[in-house]
Formats: sequence, C-alpha cells, structure tokens
Amino acid sequence: MDREPMILAFCCHYCAYAAADLAGSMRLSYSANVRILRLPCTGKIEVNYIMKAFERGVDAVIVAGCLEDGCHFLEGNLRARRRVERAQQLLEEIGLNSDRLKMFNLSSAEGPRFAEIVNEMNERLLKLGLSPLGKNRKTVESNVDEMARQAEKILTGDKNDRCRSEKCM
Ligand code: FES
Repeated sequence: MDREPMILAFCCHYCAYAAADLAGSMRLSYSANVRILRLPCTGKIEVNYIMKAFERGVDAVIVAGCLEDGCHFLEGNLRARRRVERAQQLLEEIGLNSDRLKMFNLSSAEGPRFAEIVNEMNERLLKLGLSPLGKNRKTVESNVDEMARQAEKILTGDKNDRCRSEKCM
C-alpha cells in the first residue's frame, strides 16, 4: 500500500460514540487510521453520505449504532441498516467491493468491541487494498475533516454560527 488506509466511522452519539470514547479511556489499542463522525442517531445516515465518503476517497466506512432494540429514537438503527444495505448494492454496482462498508450494533459499554471492529476492518482492507478513488492521504484526510465539520454543525444546530451573527462571542 502506498498510503495508509482511511476508515470513516459514522457513530451514533449514545452508544457507538460512547463506546469509542471508552476504548480511548481504557487505552485499548486500535488502528489510528479511523476518523469518527458523530451522529445523533444512525437513523440520520443517508445513502448519499456514505457514497460521498467513498467518492472522497475513504477506503472503508463503518456505521455503528445502538443495539437493535436500544435505539434512543426507536427505529433509527433499523432504518440505517436498510440504507447501509442499499449503499452496499450501489458499491457492488460501481465495482467497489461491498465489504468496504459494514454496520455494527453495540452498547456504550462495549469499548473493547469498538476497538475490535476497527481492527477487523483494517484486516479486511489488507485483503481488499486501497480504494481506487483515494488520491493521496492528505486529500482524503482534508475531505474527511470537512465532512466531520459539516456533521458537527448539524449536530450542534449550528450554534456557533448563530452566536457569531448575534455578536455574542
Ligand atoms: Fe443510537 Fe439511534 S440512538 S442508533
């Protein structure tokens, strides 16, 4: 591989994001080439967000939400699973292996499972290779950073921008 692979993980705030946080606090070792993009619920994921991530050069996408009966918005994770399946079909249609995209369900207490998921995806990438759509690592990183900034704005209701316009900073 002529660059490090890049994995993007869309994590629900309540479970998967908390599990990732726990993995960090527990100092569990998992590959550093994963970027976490926090969503209020995986039900917010759209097929085009996933496809955009691939278009922008990420090598694999993880969608991680609450346990099947534990979504804080009732059925968000079930909706997300259907969208992930649709995106997997599209990946096959355009010639990118659908194994580059996986959905997982975990609880906030499963820090070790989060680390395992990332490491498993990295092992899978060793077999699949880098995405042909990824240019150099810097470009992929800055694309992912931009996506993370946009997602954070949505998550925070763009509070900072409102504040600036009201001159309250
Ligand atoms: Fe976690 Fe819906 S709140 S998947």
